[in-house]
Formats: sequence, structure tokens, C-alpha cells
Amino acid sequence: MTASSILLLFGATGDLSRRMLLPSLFALHEENLVPDDLRIVGTARSELSDQGFREFAAEALTEYLPDDRQDSATIASFLERLEYQPLDASTVEGFDDLAKKLGDISGGIAIFLSTAPFLFEPTIKGLASAGLAGPNVRIGLEKPLGNDLESSRVINDAVAAAFDEDRIFRIDHYLGKETVQNLMALRFANMMFEPLWNANGIEHVQITVSETVGLEGRHDFYDETGALRDMVQNHMLQLLALTAMEAPADFDATSVRDEKVKVLRSLRPVAADEMVRGQYRSGAIDGAAVEGYPDDLGEESRTETFVAIKAHVDNWRWQGVPFYLRTGKRMQERRSEIVVQFKDVPHNIFARRGGKLVANRLVIRLQPEEYVRLMVMAKQPGMDREGVTLREVPLDLSLTQAFARARRRIAYERLLLDLIDGDPTLFVRRDEVEAQWRWIDAIRNVWAEQDVEPKPYGSGSWGPSAAIALAERDGRSWHE
Ligand code: BG6
Repeated sequence: MTASSILLLFGATGDLSRRMLLPSLFALHEENLVPDDLRIVGTARSELSDQGFREFAAEALTEYLPDDRQDSATIASFLERLEYQPLDASTVEGFDDLAKKLGDISGGIAIFLSTAPFLFEPTIKGLASAGLAGPNVRIGLEKPLGNDLESSRVINDAVAAAFDEDRIFRIDHYLGKETVQNLMALRFANMMFEPLWNANGIEHVQITVSETVGLEGRHDFYDETGALRDMVQNHMLQLLALTAMEAPADFDATSVRDEKVKVLRSLRPVAADEMVRGQYRSGAIDGAAVEGYPDDLGEESRTETFVAIKAHVDNWRWQGVPFYLRTGKRMQERRSEIVVQFKDVPHNIFARRGGKLVANRLVIRLQPEEYVRLMVMAKQPGMDREGVTLREVPLDLSLTQAFARARRRIAYERLLLDLIDGDPTLFVRRDEVEAQWRWIDAIRNVWAEQDVEPKPYGSGSWGPSAAIALAERDGRSWHE
């Protein structure tokens, strides 16, 4: 595939566009990563002119770019790329005008679709009817792509009616994060981890994505969605798949996604006593009092804002190794990390001299800091007359320090560039999404059948006590 000459942004005046997409596109422009003649055409319902959209974008950049990158000449040259066409995507009528605006599309179009779910189908139909879905057009789809297997199939079928699978780029912004890609480098560009990366060497794995934010104004969307579908179905399962997958033969879209989907299909359906639903109540975050979910929402609700799951990957490599997952809003800290807990050494030679061992642990911190930390045992300096003292010390790889000159990027910079260039490696294939939904739907069925209500937890905590018990009853504890 070759780079497209037009990027067409649906939902161009939305929140994602302001906060993430426009600043990301600016970064690609700033670093000359996109072709000089790339046109960026925004579309949404608002009646804006090209100039109006440029002003909208200029404001977004003023708000979201750090001060040291507010260079007026670079911003002005970026804004020149922008054009705008108002469009009511719910009917096919406006699409001919859009096609007219785009003019010559022989250089190919990359579409980024981030619109309300009910607009997906009409948008695809509109694009097809106006000749904007041909072989040189690819389409990036932002979530939510349905809210269960069935509805995601309806959307996927609608898209497939106009676009071949290799032209469909399903976005999971976690895959655009540098540290998430680094997980593959850590595993497959080093000799020392992989031989132990299985049930012989690993005792259990923990994946935590905790947030301190609450509803962030997304009341309707969030209350209909809940933490399981908002975070686990996509981001957490992608992290799990990258942690658990076999080595792909190549770092290409087919090989990587083939391996991920095998993991997703090996996930065992979760038993009722291996998961916890939670919902935040009032509490304090960073010393500031915050309200509970029902107050934030303005009504009582049974939607979960927290989930903890003990997951099992039923294959040879992972037999008997649980993957503990937890995610929630209004938790104590913002933190995304993968913790790989290795097994104990087979025999402690220091035992008779009082030396106590702690099993090795690998912590892969994705955010807010970015590091990989291997906890290893070392001898405390001394003459050891009273016995040997062993201590756990970190072998630290701070990515922020090791690559101090590299700017930390927004995940969307990478994803937009790959979409424009046509590289689908970091996008989610249909069979992956369906395997994810199948597992998530089964969890929701258990909740529905057993009428599982979310358990309350105080804002600023690590979730309901039942989530702590989920690990502790196995003699394990969450890494905090
Ligand atoms: C989004 C969810 O997909 O991911 C949000 O809809 C969540 O609820 C966000 O806050 C978290 O992303 P990040 O990159 O801040 O970890």
C-alpha cells in the first residue's frame, strides 16, 4: 500500500479531534512525516467554512500543544493543509458534495471515522454511493464498534459491504502507545525472557489499568457501556494478548494478528467467583473530595466502573498461570502496568544462613511513567557474620531516560501515520474483535443470569475489597 494523498476526518469538530487528532496531525506535519501534498479534510455536521475549521484547529492547538511547540510559522503551514465540508452523515445526500470537495482522489484516501455508532452504517453507505469507498480508500474505525458480538458483527458487515478487510483499520489506541509496542521488543528482541515466559517460569501475571478520572462528562455513553466493555474488551485484552502470544514469525500485520487471535480464542470463560464488579462511591483523590458515581450520573445505576477478573489462557504455554486483570475509574492512582511474577527458585541455598528469597518480578509500566523494572535478589553488603541478608533490588530500564531526547508521543500520532501509510500491524482485525466480544459477552451473561450487582468502593481506593480477596485467596497480592 502507498501513502494516501487525502486524510478525511469524520467527527472533525468532536472532542477526540480537538484533544488528540489535530495535535497528532500537527506533530506529523512538524516532523515532516507526512507527504507535503497531504490534504486533511474535516467533516461534521457543523456549518463551518475551510477558514472556520482552521480557526477551530488553531484553538485546539493553542490549548493542547505544549508551549515549546507553539511555533506560529509551523502552525500556519499546518493549517494550510486543512479543509472542511459540512455533512449530515445520516443521509446519503451530502456525500456527493463531499466527493466534489475532495476532487481528484486518484492519490488515495485514508478515512478516520469517529462518529456516534448510529452513524456508522449510513456513513459507509454514503461513502460507497459517492464513489468514496474504492480500492484506493482505507478506513480507520474508532470505538465503540458495537456493544456486544452481535452488534459488532452488524457494524463489521456494514463496513465489509464496502471495504475489504485489508482496508479496514480498527483502532485500539493502546496499540499506538510506544510502551505497548515495546512489550513486543522486550519479549522478542531479547534472549533472556522468552525461555522463562511460560508456565514453567511464571507464577502469575497482573494487568492493571487504573484511572483517577470519573465520568468526564460522558454520562450517557459510559453508563450504557461500563468498565468491562469500555476498557477490558479492547485495551486490556490487547495487553493480555501481546503478553501471552507466541512469537510471530515476522513483525507484520498477518503474523502478529494471527498470534494475538490464538490467545484471545484460548481464553477460558470466566466463572462467577473469578470476577468482581464495582462502582465508585464518594471519597478523595489526591486530597480532593469527589462524589460517588450515582451523584456524578444524577441517578442510581447498575453500571460497573470497576472490574477485576482472574483470567485463564487455556493452552500449553499458560496452563495453570492466572492473568489477574483490573481496571477502574476513580482509583487511587493513574497507572497502567503489566506485572509478570516469576516462580520461586527451585532451592534456596542461603536458607541455612538465614537468607530469604523473593521471587523475581518484572514490572512493565506503561503510564504515567514508562519503564521496565526487573526485581532481582542481591546480597546486602557486609561480612555476613550474622547470616546472609538478601534484598530485592531493581534492575531498571527507564525508557524516558534511555531515550531522553525522544518526545513522548500521543498514541494517535503513530496510528494516524500508519493509517495514512497503509500499515495495519497495529490495528485490530475482525476475528480478534469477535473473539474479544465472545469472551466479554459470556461474562455479561453470567452477570445477568446471577443478577450480579456492582460492589461499592470508595473513590481513591484500589477497588472493592472483593477484588483484593480475588488475589489474596490464592495467596497472591496485587502489586501496589
Ligand atoms: C478510552 C476509554 O478508550 O480509554 C476511556 O473510553 C479511558 O474511558 C481511556 O479513560 C483511557 O486511555 P488512556 O490512554 O488515558 O489510558
